Amino acid sequence: MLYPSQAQIAPFYPVGSAICARRYTIITVMRYETIRNLAIPKIGFGTWTIGGENNAETAQDARSLAALRSALELGYTAFDTAEMYAAGHAEELLGQAIRTARLNRESLFITSKVSPEHLGYEQVLRSCETSLRRLGMDYVDLYLIHWPRRGMNLVEAFRALNKLVTDGKARHLGVSNFDLKLLEKSVALSETPLLTNQVSYSLPDRTYAKNGVLAYCQANDILLTAYSPVKRRFIRGNRPLQALAKQRGATPQQIALAWLVRQPRVITIPMSFNPQHQAENLAAADMELGEAELAQLGS
Ligand SMILES: NC(=O)c1ccc[n+]([C@@H]2O[C@H](COP(=O)([O-])OP(=O)(O)OC[C@H]3O[C@@H](n4cnc5c(N)ncnc54)[C@H](OP(=O)(O)O)[C@@H]3O)[C@@H](O)[C@H]2O)c1
Repeated sequence: MLYPSQAQIAPFYPVGSAICARRYTIITVMRYETIRNLAIPKIGFGTWTIGGENNAETAQDARSLAALRSALELGYTAFDTAEMYAAGHAEELLGQAIRTARLNRESLFITSKVSPEHLGYEQVLRSCETSLRRLGMDYVDLYLIHWPRRGMNLVEAFRALNKLVTDGKARHLGVSNFDLKLLEKSVALSETPLLTNQVSYSLPDRTYAKNGVLAYCQANDILLTAYSPVKRRFIRGNRPLQALAKQRGATPQQIALAWLVRQPRVITIPMSFNPQHQAENLAAADMELGEAELAQLGS
């Protein structure tokens, strides 16, 4: 439920920093993952398909902007984008939606990513500058290598990423789709503590729990950002999930998100064009799952 102009609830970034004014507040206490003096929402908002898929589809702009507007009004403060999404158009629309909402930049946590084909030193610097221009921002909170590339020069990529932090263009660094070996290499190359590895992780997809990445993240204060947490094809056939959702009077997507965010150091970034789904996803941060329920889900 949304109530205009009520007292603010959410903590912002870094912990203890000024709270911004916003038009609406959501009457649930969003859960945060606190890491290195930062409070990061357990549930943020993804932007893949905002503005298009691999190319910009400007005919869809009104729909995309409406989705971003409702997410901002519902109280999402963490947004995940990439130079690759809609060939940069997702970043443009995200920047536009944030400017229109007149939100304090410091109240938001914006992640973007450099594409695997741009991992040379100069290319990383240029990609970040271009993303900032499209977003209309001076810095991103988090900048990730989107995917590893065979034969990439990780040393050179991190030399550029470290410079972005020194220059104040990126506040934190991370990687995405990195296996344990590459993650450990990245931790060694990053001059500031690596904040996240963003990977596919959900009830039906536990690859990164099985390959040791999740345990490594938890042991080393690194966030595991779970992407594709509710993708339809995964949710539809999951009988225990459907049954538990029915028992709890929740949606299967909410159970799937609650299962993720109860795990230490795990945050997630579902995407939805539908304001009802967006609200349900945020509310999932407040759902507790009992031991018997976890067993029912096979945990
Ligand atoms: N780093 C990477 O390589 C990588 C890869 C993939 C994704 N990502 C990031 O992760 C984000 C999320 O992943 P994703 O977009 O692949 O998958 P997702 O968020 O798991 O699934 C999105 C789909 O689920 C539906 N949905 C969302 N919430 C729902 C709800 N409560 N009830 C019913 N349906 C719901 C949406 O449809 P409606 O619009 O109809 O609600 C949409 O079709 C992306 O947007 C992107 O930012 C990163």
